Amino acid sequence: MKVLLVGSGAREHALGWKLVQSDHVDELISLPGNPGLAELGAVIEGVDATDVGAVAALSRIQSIDFVVIGPEAPLAAGLVDALTGLGIPAFGPTRAAARLESSKSFAKDVMIRSGVPTPMAWAFDHAGDAEQHIRSHPGPYVVKADGLAGGKGVLVTGDRDDAIGWAHKCIAEGLGGKQPRVVIEEFVAGPELSVFAICDGTNSLLLEPARDYKRIGDGDTGPNTGGMGSYSPVALPADLLDRVKRSVIDPVLTTMRADGAPYVGVLYAGLVLTDDGPKVIEFNCRFGDPETQVVLARLNSDLFDVLHAATSGSLADIELRWSPDSVVNVVLAAHGYPESPRKGDVITGLGDVTGLVFHAGTARDGKHLRTAGGRVLSVLGSGPDLATARANAYEAADSISFKGKTLRSDIAASDSID
Ligand code: GLY
Repeated sequence: MKVLLVGSGAREHALGWKLVQSDHVDELISLPGNPGLAELGAVIEGVDATDVGAVAALSRIQSIDFVVIGPEAPLAAGLVDALTGLGIPAFGPTRAAARLESSKSFAKDVMIRSGVPTPMAWAFDHAGDAEQHIRSHPGPYVVKADGLAGGKGVLVTGDRDDAIGWAHKCIAEGLGGKQPRVVIEEFVAGPELSVFAICDGTNSLLLEPARDYKRIGDGDTGPNTGGMGSYSPVALPADLLDRVKRSVIDPVLTTMRADGAPYVGVLYAGLVLTDDGPKVIEFNCRFGDPETQVVLARLNSDLFDVLHAATSGSLADIELRWSPDSVVNVVLAAHGYPESPRKGDVITGLGDVTGLVFHAGTARDGKHLRTAGGRVLSVLGSGPDLATARANAYEAADSISFKGKTLRSDIAASDSID
């Protein structure tokens, strides 16, 4: 099979690394890919992944047999619809189903109709109405731009003026899409957990859970980022995943099917483990980054078989096999990340690393590898327990150098969910 992989981050490098291990994958092509993916197959640059007509036409010209789509933007733009319209199977939700991520108010409506435990929420199309709501409720406040905002659309704050300012900004600047709308959500406290379900429209298979670290600084301080590290497995109460499948994933699949938008792809549920049980604070329609890197490093099953079964409605025939090992991922970010990451610093030491390293913001420049984005590399360590995996990840991270290298020192320092 000739497989096209859409995306350019460490998540996609991990997907590509796992896909080429399949006996069914003869050739991997990435669009736009990155220097890590370029070592696994050809890369196609200069085509915007959200130009769904162009990507679909190119897939036909290249005789692509199967497409795997990493990021949310091409999914929300309808890439799966365009590809399947040309008879090319693609792993990911259609544009209508991807609204579970691309519209917070749509997702909330589906959750409520499905009986999924989720914080209460109110949607506003006018900033004045949102302001009035905030003024008449106590904090903390969770204020979200309704549409896709590249991870920059959510403010959680105890400060009423900041919350009002954010609501105005979301509406005035059209943050989150062309149809400005803001969603204000009840604040719920507890540890956060990401759960990923592979779905075929009817059936779901839950992947091993992973934890990520969203803030830039140790001890969860400083601004939010795309994610500074992750680890798997996570010590969880024995029945938690089953409960999430029964009370979240499967009811949503039933509702989406009844609505005529069956959900095929990864359904990523962002949960808060409250005293009243898990509550969904968001859905994403894709694999998480940096969680995917550690989850796929532990997957012993053939990833192509799993993704193909999801697109052909035969997930019920698949059983996932996992390594019992722990895996820790330390993200190396560029100087100035997340506000203004610097590009162009020379990266050295990769050749000294024996474990897995997935590329994200890197670029080749002759014989040099340079930083080219905020999150530069995902550096993995594995071992029979979390402490060993962590030590191996940090040893590898230490042997890689570039000016301004930014990392957290507390990834997987404690497995605090219990
Ligand atoms: N790890 C957070 C995300 O992928 O959105």
